[in-house]
Amino acid sequence: MRIAVVGFGHIGKQHCKNVMENENLELAYICDPFISVDDLPAGVRDSCLVKDYDSWIENLNPSDVDLLIIATPNHLHYPMLVKAMTTYPFAGNPILVEKPVVIKNEHIEDLHYIQEQRRNKGLEEIPIFVNYPLRFLPSVNVLKNNWDSIGDVRIANVGVFWNRNKGYYDAADWRGKLDKEGGPLFNEFIHHLDLISYLGGELSINSGNVKDFSHNYTEVEDTGLINFKFNEGGLGVLTYTVATPNKSFDVNLHFIGDKGSAKLTGLYTNRLIINDDIYEFPINRNHYAQVLYSITEYLNGGTMDDRLCMMDDGLKLVSTINDFYSIAR
Ligand SMILES: NC(=O)c1ccc[n+]([C@@H]2O[C@H](COP(=O)([O-])OP(=O)(O)OC[C@H]3O[C@@H](n4cnc5c(N)ncnc54)[C@H](O)[C@@H]3O)[C@@H](O)[C@H]2O)c1
Repeated sequence: MRIAVVGFGHIGKQHCKNVMENENLELAYICDPFISVDDLPAGVRDSCLVKDYDSWIENLNPSDVDLLIIATPNHLHYPMLVKAMTTYPFAGNPILVEKPVVIKNEHIEDLHYIQEQRRNKGLEEIPIFVNYPLRFLPSVNVLKNNWDSIGDVRIANVGVFWNRNKGYYDAADWRGKLDKEGGPLFNEFIHHLDLISYLGGELSINSGNVKDFSHNYTEVEDTGLINFKFNEGGLGVLTYTVATPNKSFDVNLHFIGDKGSAKLTGLYTNRLIINDDIYEFPINRNHYAQVLYSITEYLNGGTMDDRLCMMDDGLKLVSTINDFYSIAR
């Protein structure tokens, strides 16, 4: 299968590496107007680089691309998705978009509309996957597979205490910007909010607060506290921060159900307690490779991996985050 990657930054490089390390995949294009052929990974032909800012999609030969990966800054996902979904003859090709799918609510309807227009014309919906690699952690898989021993969630109590310093924000001009990043819930803690609903069920926002303790050089909060409720009746709280002093401290997700209790913990979410059972898994920081593997297996005619997140679920999460921000900011 041939893959095109748009955006060759921190995460785009990781996607390219994963493609190149998989013998069944081939890197067909890297689209990024801000890099040169000298930046291409060893072994990638110069002709793979597409530097055209506006008409990058027109530069792709659709029959050379089985999957397009969009790994550009958050605010560019929307225009790039629209372009990829509507520019013929490319339109129809599967897409993996980085989280968050979009950051503005008004863009959610547009993406649904494009898929609806395709259905009305008798065309198939475009398979659009969203990259939530935490769903592929062994600790999460074991918990998901043993969810029966937890039952219906009564309480989810989640804390993510990370550190992001000035160097992180200085490294890319979109980070920490309201209109481009959207805020830490879109950029960092969307992963944990996704895990909460992936494991515990759909949820909606009750109330919340945000505060900025130590990042006055960004346009967004560094800390937030979300009160939410599960559609099935349980209650939850998520506390997130990038203002932990010196370095990231901990991630913990507690679930108290009507049958039992579970806790995912550790900075890399690699420890798990389910009732009396304790598990510790090796730290693996590249579960992106597994997301890619599952998508390409599916596109090759395999079964759908139910850990994959599709666009509709990704858009629900965007709407939930905006619900929270409209209350808390
Ligand atoms: N799923 C995950 O675990 C995960 C982890 C980190 C980042 N992300 C997401 O990945 C995306 C990229 O984040 P990053 O940290 O790699 O950012 P980055 O700033 O390191 O890289 C972004 C890249 O996009 C390129 N770019 C900018 N405008 C472009 C355009 N018009 N066309 C093509 N390329 C363009 C830049 O030159 C840069 O190389 C973000 O949406 C982020 O939220 C996801």
